[in-house]
Amino acid sequence: MTVYSEELFKRVFTVYGHNFDTAGETSTEIKSILKGLEIDSDIIRRALVVAFEAEMNVVMYANIGTVSFVITDEAIDIEVADEGPGIPDIEQAMQEGFSTASDEMREKGFGFGMGLPNIKKNSDVLKIESDVGKGTKLLARIRLDSNA
Ligand SMILES: Nc1ncnc2c1ncn2[C@@H]1O[C@H](COP(=O)(O)OP(=O)(O)O)[C@@H](O)[C@H]1O
Ligand SMILES: [Mg+2]
Repeated sequence: MTVYSEELFKRVFTVYGHNFDTAGETSTEIKSILKGLEIDSDIIRRALVVAFEAEMNVVMYANIGTVSFVITDEAIDIEVADEGPGIPDIEQAMQEGFSTASDEMREKGFGFGMGLPNIKKNSDVLKIESDVGKGTKLLARIRLDSNA
């Protein structure tokens, strides 16, 4: 996704599935990186929604994943690739309120089925590819010159 733009910053994080103790750590780190840069606060807010929701989906549904966080001169690119069950019906998963979260996850305050719709709402470009039984790859771009 960064072929035509200059990469200024890149970090790759590992996210562990089914581990609520470390859940959210990647997004917290991304937050501190972004706060130190001169980027519009609304762009930062949108990138953090995307990062947090995508990270939590790895925690809740996958075994392990990586979050690649890239800032170019044009955009913030967040790529999340996981090894996990995959998503059988992406269109259905994108619907507001659709969730396969367990009761335990709901007790923790997750699983309202708003993660993917909010990722969509807050990205300028979103691509999701999934192989059932193998994993899921999500690419989200938030353009630095956009304002939702
Ligand atoms: N990385 C993933 N791996 C497998 N399934 C996923 C993944 N991300 C999302 N899903 C599926 O899509 C559904 C909707 O996701 P989302 O909108 O984030 O809602 P929620 O996480 O609250 O269930 C999830 O309940 C799950 O079934
Ligand atoms: Mg979610």
